[in-house]
Amino acid sequence: MKLAVIYDSKSGNTKQAAEWIAQGMEANADVEAKAFSIDGVDEAFVNDAKGIVIGSPSYAAAMTPDLHDFLMNKSNNLNFTGKLGGAFATEQFTHGGGEMVIQNILTFELTKGMMCYSSGGAFGSPVIHMGPVGVNGNVEKHNGMEHYKDYFTIFGERFAKKALEIF
Ligand SMILES: Cc1cc2nc3c(=O)[nH]c(=O)nc-3n(C[C@H](O)[C@H](O)[C@H](O)COP(=O)(O)O)c2cc1C
Repeated sequence: MKLAVIYDSKSGNTKQAAEWIAQGMEANADVEAKAFSIDGVDEAFVNDAKGIVIGSPSYAAAMTPDLHDFLMNKSNNLNFTGKLGGAFATEQFTHGGGEMVIQNILTFELTKGMMCYSSGGAFGSPVIHMGPVGVNGNVEKHNGMEHYKDYFTIFGERFAKKALEIF
């Protein structure tokens, strides 16, 4: 089964998170997962995929204007309907709006008829209510994306398990 991760990233944090999610997805046998920047989406792969996870940096607690533009205006060739959907975010402040970004993306996914999934509390720790958020170390020196690697890989693994169960 193919699973896709689509992200916007200007300085690499969200790209790193996307790659960790794809890595976690592939921990499941029979899953081929690929992460694509919005500038280089393999449309055939995404259209074959049963699940799509979309991620963005927090820009004023919302998805980036470029991701919004991609989803609204540049993804007409992509089929989202009926697929499993998930979302993730990165930010530079612990309270920098990451979960708002995720909600923003999940709302888009719902409008496209996707089935949204976060894993919630079903597997115990780590509980992931909306989707994984990574806080980089740009400003908060005690923070850093490396602290969040497990959240992204575990989310990817759970998301893929659910996709395999459904499809
Ligand atoms: C225009 C702009 C707005 C931003 N707004 C926020 C914000 O509201 N909250 C936050 O925590 N970080 C904010 N950031 C920081 C980024 O979300 C953060 O550094 C992110 O990890 C960058 O992702 P990237 O490396 O994938 O580009 C902003 C950055 C930019 C450039």
